Amino acid sequence: MDTFEEINVKGYAEEYIDPSLDLFDEIERLKKEKNAVVLAHYYQEPDIQDVADYIGDSLGLSQQAAKTDADIIVFAGVHFMAETAKILSPQKKVLLPDLKAGCSLADSCPPHLFRKFKENYPDHLVITYVNCTAELKAMTDIVCTSSNAVQIIESLPKDQKIIFGPDKNLGAYVARKTGRDLVLWNGACMVHEIFSQEKIIRLKERHPKAKLLAHPECESVILKMADYIGSTTGLLKYATKSPEKEFIVATESGIIHQMQKDNPDKVFIPAPPNNQCACNDCPHMKRNTLEKLYLCMKNELPEVTVPEHIIEKAVKPIERMLEISAQLGL
Ligand code: 13P
Ligand code: SF4
Repeated sequence: MDTFEEINVKGYAEEYIDPSLDLFDEIERLKKEKNAVVLAHYYQEPDIQDVADYIGDSLGLSQQAAKTDADIIVFAGVHFMAETAKILSPQKKVLLPDLKAGCSLADSCPPHLFRKFKENYPDHLVITYVNCTAELKAMTDIVCTSSNAVQIIESLPKDQKIIFGPDKNLGAYVARKTGRDLVLWNGACMVHEIFSQEKIIRLKERHPKAKLLAHPECESVILKMADYIGSTTGLLKYATKSPEKEFIVATESGIIHQMQKDNPDKVFIPAPPNNQCACNDCPHMKRNTLEKLYLCMKNELPEVTVPEHIIEKAVKPIERMLEISAQLGL
């Protein structure tokens, strides 16, 4: 097994895995033995989604992390998600299969620069999208996710001045939906900002009945063409309820696994990005593999920790989000 230092450099523990082992059975065994729960985001590879106890969007995953009675939370997602779980359940051990599963959106908002930005607007409330570091959450008044951002802004008085960060695309979408004038941080997600309007138009011509489903992290040119905009859970629910049979999906392609599982009679086409690839994977989400998940459960490493003074501040805006969401039945 790697040393602690090696794990920190590489991001994950590496060791020989007997190829005759059934990793699905092994992970189930470790869950019981260690009273561990596996929470997975929809952008994880299909095998990880299939072995998870709960799969969801960022709001659903935070709600699960806050209420679980497991001793260990194994977070199959990215670093900011595991940090959020740790902030909500600091007494539990939170494991992430690969510590380097980061997020370009969270990286686009360095806390020291955001602190300076915030100083320019002393009478503004700070609302941050959950896709940010724990340090940023500690500077925030209310956290939101893509499934409750509109409702959280609407729950505030109309004349409340607001800074919204780090995602400029989600921020602009929320501003359009609520008619509020938000001060936006200029951040974006490397996956959602590269969908090609031109290629989607061509795809729609070939599939005239297909509905375009888009995540609000997409650029406004894509959102303007969309038939439905929502969080990953929102997109999945819409596709399941809709009587339509064909969908073009403008978000990370991992979500298509559940869409297809829940709707075997429907066709889901990943929206193409403006590069040479046919679909759009998040390189951070896809750092996690079934092997890394197994090893991290076996060795209880790598573990995600958050300094206590950050937890003390960051827990308030996350709990505020969970309270508002509960009041709204989200
Ligand atoms: P949701 O699953 O909350 O919609 O978030 C999407 C995302 O980009 C997570 O990184
Ligand atoms: Fe971050 Fe974008 Fe990947 Fe989500 S899809 S984890 S926002 S880089």
